[in-house]
Amino acid sequence: MANAPLVNGLDDSNRIDLVKLPEPDVSGKPVTGERYYSSDFMQQEWDHIWTKTWLIAGLEEQLPEAGDRITCEIGKESILCTRDNEGKIRAFYNVCQHRGNRLVHEESGNGRNLACNYHGWKFKLDGELAFVPDHKNFLEGNPCGKLRLKELPCTVFAGFIWYSMDEDVMSLEEYLGPVYSQINTYDLSRMKRTHWVTIEGDFNWKIVQDNFNESYHLPFVHIGAHHVMEQSYKHCQMDIFEKEGHARMIMPGAKPTVGLRGDFDTTKELLKEEFEFWGLDPETFREDPQSMRKAMQKIKREQGAERGFDYSGMHDEQLTDHFHYTIFPNLSLSLKPDGCIFLKATPHPTDPSKCYFDTWFLMWFPDNATEYYAAAMEDMVDLDVKVPHIAGKVREVSCGPVIDDDVRVWSTQQTGLISKGYTGSYMADQEKRVQFFHEEVDRYIAKGEAKG
Ligand code: FES
Ligand SMILES: [Fe+2]
Repeated sequence: MANAPLVNGLDDSNRIDLVKLPEPDVSGKPVTGERYYSSDFMQQEWDHIWTKTWLIAGLEEQLPEAGDRITCEIGKESILCTRDNEGKIRAFYNVCQHRGNRLVHEESGNGRNLACNYHGWKFKLDGELAFVPDHKNFLEGNPCGKLRLKELPCTVFAGFIWYSMDEDVMSLEEYLGPVYSQINTYDLSRMKRTHWVTIEGDFNWKIVQDNFNESYHLPFVHIGAHHVMEQSYKHCQMDIFEKEGHARMIMPGAKPTVGLRGDFDTTKELLKEEFEFWGLDPETFREDPQSMRKAMQKIKREQGAERGFDYSGMHDEQLTDHFHYTIFPNLSLSLKPDGCIFLKATPHPTDPSKCYFDTWFLMWFPDNATEYYAAAMEDMVDLDVKVPHIAGKVREVSCGPVIDDDVRVWSTQQTGLISKGYTGSYMADQEKRVQFFHEEVDRYIAKGEAKG
């Protein structure tokens, strides 16, 4: 396919800023254990973070037709998203306005209206109450046309359905700041979800976000990752978007870490399919494994369009490297031009020592490249993944390779954080994003409490 359409209409002039950002100051105050198990702290987070920020309910591709709906749980709330008859995607609190029954009980479905199973009230897809039994029996008058579902700010961006429980929330573009245009250079809306697991984890949600805010753990938790990507902080770039509270890390990929000695065969084996797809023989890089990355960038740039990939609007670095964004409060997106690992931690309704953790793989399948994915990802590719998805308790189900390694540590860290023997963190400079994240949590709480 020659002349593939530009990603989101972008060209060279839209390329993302790769310049390292100035480091923000952090107080360095130790991150203490009770933040991970205190019910009071959990309530403060609910009042001042979860109900004030932009969050993700699902993917636009889940609601292709009018009448489609999904629900998503967040803490004690359930959020209902619909596509109405005008094609607009809307978000509501999932609660009947009669006497408060939960309105929709399924994770996904389709129908011309939203019917409550208690007394039969029916709401339109745009939230308006359309039918009540015995409407003449209401002394205050027929509630139809008068009552509506409580609607939330909602927008679709990068293929995700975003909502906020703050009716005065700033626009999503302002909220994401530079991250908005940066993730927009990846055509996420063109990607398909091929893997979706939700687990109930026995750890606080911040443990998840902490973990994705540092790569210090990689050599110990993900033994082997250093064969295919750079993991030393000395060769990765870490940035904090101070004003917005988000962060990014750029980890060079398609090559072994600089310090790797003597095990080129593992690198060769792990990168074999991708290199062969692009017509490169990994063996030819034995003497200079570091040159693999540039060679891959070059061939992707040269042959991308004819193989159905669109790299316009992207730097060469984006063709091989892992651009990892942590979006406040609870999202991590690990981006490659042809795929994204999406990770989301959601608070438990009542227990601060638990959370729900979602792993999604999103992939872009140009028509003639599916074989490459099938070979590279094997059984991780399911082109028909839908709700209900794989769900279960931690350790009963697998989130997928690599992520399972993280999950094991989160469980054991939670048990340590409650110990009297733990008095607070002592962090390295490369863990600054973790420190910053906690200070951002505190800033949200302080700001919310000051408003009263
Ligand atoms: S609570 Fe929904 S119809 Fe009564
Ligand atoms: Fe990890």
